[in-house]
Amino acid sequence: MKTALAVAFALAALCHAGPVNYTQKYTWKNVRTGASGGFVDGIVFSTKQKGVAYARTDIGGLYRLNADDSWTPLQDYVNNTLWNEHGVDAVALDPNDASRVYIAAGIYTNSWDPYNGKILSSTDYGKTWSRSYFPFKFGGNMGGRQMGERLAVDPNKGSIIYFGARSGKGLWKSSDYGKTWAKVPSYTAVGTFIIAPGDTGQNGDIIGITFVTFDSTSSSAGTASKRIFVGTADTSATVYMSEDAGVTWSAIPGQPTGFLSHTGKYSPTEKALYVSYVNTADTYGGGDGYVYKYYVESKKWVQILDDNGTGFGFGGLSLDPQKNGTVMVATYHQWWPDGNIYRSLDGGATWTTIWDFDWSGVQPPVKRRFDWDVSEANWLPEVTGDKATGWMMGSLAIDPFDSEHFLYGTGATIFGSHKLTNWDKNINFNLSSLSYGMEETAVLGLTSPPQGPPLLSVVGDVGGWRHDNLDVAPYKNHLNPWWGTTRSIDHAGSKPNIVVRSGDASGGLALSNDTGITWHIHANAGTWSGGRAQLSANGDFVVWAVNNGIYVSVNEYPFQKVPNIPSGSYYTANDRNHNGLFYAAESSNFYVSTDAGTSYTKTTASIGYIREIGVNPFRIGDVWVATDSGIWHSIDSGKSFGKAGPATDAYHIQLGKSATSSGYPSIFAAATIQGWAGHYRSDECVP
Ligand SMILES: *[C@@H]1O[C@H](CO)[C@@H](O)[C@H](O)[C@H]1NC(C)=O
Ligand SMILES: *[C@@H]1O[C@H](CO)[C@@H](O)[C@H](O)[C@H]1NC(C)=O
Ligand SMILES: *[C@@H]1O[C@H](CO)[C@@H](O)[C@H](O)[C@H]1NC(C)=O
Ligand SMILES: *[C@@H]1O[C@H](CO)[C@@H](O)[C@H](O)[C@H]1NC(C)=O
Ligand SMILES: *[C@@H]1O[C@H](CO)[C@@H](O)[C@H](O)[C@H]1NC(C)=O
Ligand SMILES: *[C@@H]1O[C@H](CO)[C@@H](O)[C@H](O)[C@H]1NC(C)=O
Repeated sequence: MKTALAVAFALAALCHAGPVNYTQKYTWKNVRTGASGGFVDGIVFSTKQKGVAYARTDIGGLYRLNADDSWTPLQDYVNNTLWNEHGVDAVALDPNDASRVYIAAGIYTNSWDPYNGKILSSTDYGKTWSRSYFPFKFGGNMGGRQMGERLAVDPNKGSIIYFGARSGKGLWKSSDYGKTWAKVPSYTAVGTFIIAPGDTGQNGDIIGITFVTFDSTSSSAGTASKRIFVGTADTSATVYMSEDAGVTWSAIPGQPTGFLSHTGKYSPTEKALYVSYVNTADTYGGGDGYVYKYYVESKKWVQILDDNGTGFGFGGLSLDPQKNGTVMVATYHQWWPDGNIYRSLDGGATWTTIWDFDWSGVQPPVKRRFDWDVSEANWLPEVTGDKATGWMMGSLAIDPFDSEHFLYGTGATIFGSHKLTNWDKNINFNLSSLSYGMEETAVLGLTSPPQGPPLLSVVGDVGGWRHDNLDVAPYKNHLNPWWGTTRSIDHAGSKPNIVVRSGDASGGLALSNDTGITWHIHANAGTWSGGRAQLSANGDFVVWAVNNGIYVSVNEYPFQKVPNIPSGSYYTANDRNHNGLFYAAESSNFYVSTDAGTSYTKTTASIGYIREIGVNPFRIGDVWVATDSGIWHSIDSGKSFGKAGPATDAYHIQLGKSATSSGYPSIFAAATIQGWAGHYRSDECVP
């Protein structure tokens, strides 16, 4: 989870006026969810050292594989000037030195991301990084993020690295292990393809280069490889080659046109480049495609697979370096009935698929070559529906040291197996979700009730969970109702068994009276969706900030709109002890209701733009507020506020169990103090 619960860093003391103690160390662990819950768009194995592999994600950073199939996050650092590094646009390993890893970091090429892209280099397996700054942006969460790897290290000379940019910025080269970079002037095929021209979101920019790969046999160790292949998202010519170590480049003659090259992999034993093709780079698209082989000696292109216009194209492609002619390719995005994977043992002359159509009665109409194993993330079926293999399959990797082991990324997890060659013996193998330790959900709400489970979460896309044990993956997500994106969750202060959540669906409000085991839709949820729902101390009132207003329902009777507040986007929080005491904020205005939400009164507080309200669960009327001018405190239900501590900006604030004998809760805040943005804690704020 990308929240305070998931990150490794030092908290510092917050509230006292003296110097902040930045040296205090905390041990943070990830809450185990069992699977990424988000898009894994690149997986790369080391060809130098067995067991070394990395997976990149679009919003969750880079992960390194462990021997037990789990993944270690390498970018769970918190620093508000480095947040865009969680979008990883490409990853490359040095085939000469297993400890070296490089990533292209930067999340959006549009204005949402104020920072330019960087190549991050590590010489210690991703534990620490040094940064090389580029004069333009990268797009780890832009359209086309699952195209093949656009960053690659020369297998004959590790100091040489190529990076293919987006946005028409061309091909870049480093000759000093990623420290400095220069544009390759002779490479002019910067790409023309745009998923949706004019789009101001993730799909309006030039995709640019799709892959870079080398012919390792084109020189010898210590000398730059002569033959280099570059894929470019351009339907008129999409595969380029240099045969003079990158001095000159040209489109390979005779190549297929009309499609985009996705992934290129060179087979030294066959002296051939394999290329997968798709007709778009749309993250959720994929209409048509084929797979070709280019033989460098005869200079011939040969088609080895065609989807015959059945609507999916081809994405992730991998060769088994231990088995000449063994190749696997995934469909780019076959939504129905399921993503497919093709495997050939004879260089693409003949293929078998991970499932075949079988109309004899089962739904979906497929006969599977595998047994589906989601024991590490048993909640996945709720997300995947009737699909097993998944979708958005832009990366697939056979372990170069173990022909039994392969992995591929999907929109929700990583699947893989340790019994891959069962495929060739017509024996089913376990296709397992293998992404534990990897977490890239957008956490939208957390609550920790004083009884029952230690944590209830709600997240984007995959719903959220009741976490009975923080070290064990939850068995199921919130069900009946299940909503993909769930926006808020709250427990009642005096009756913590009562829980409410709101989510993105018509009738998107549900209640539980057993701390989130069973749920029912609020009797008067109507057709409203999303928003932020809060319970009164006794759990009988629900306050729902939705539809630009605040609505209150008691005992599931119809919601009444609070009449005397202007329209706006409200943040609400209720007192945990006093059943009628509710708080609300809208931009810089703070409101209090003492009559269970029948009416709200604006207080005269002038405390800046309000981002979050934290209530003291043990003392009536004791409220803390995070604003763009810092942290503010009130002991009279928000009638008056005093500035608390040295924070100059604050994003979140919440109160928890007391750490001292004073009994006053510990306060946790995400804030900027003395110029350092981070997470802070105070045990000393007794008013
Ligand atoms: C800061 O925290 C460290 C680690 O907990 C502790 O050893 C040190 O005494 C603290 N310094 C101050 C000035 O409180
Ligand atoms: C690899 O297979 C190809 C046929 O696909 C064959 O021509 C070639 O000799 C083989 N190479 C090796 C090293 O086995
Ligand atoms: C496409 O059609 C050809 C010729 O009928 C067939 O051999 C091939 O298997 C088909 N491709 C797929 C992906 O079904
Ligand atoms: C396959 O997965 C199931 C759980 O889904 C597990 O019980 C079984 O042991 C696995 N088999 C192998 C060979 O790993
Ligand atoms: C708890 O909720 C269920 C419906 O989800 C309802 O049938 C039951 O009566 C409720 N129990 C209490 C004690 O409110
Ligand atoms: C955040 O990152 C920037 C850029 O690397 C660095 O200068 C700064 O010291 C970091 N801040 C913290 C609090 O680590």
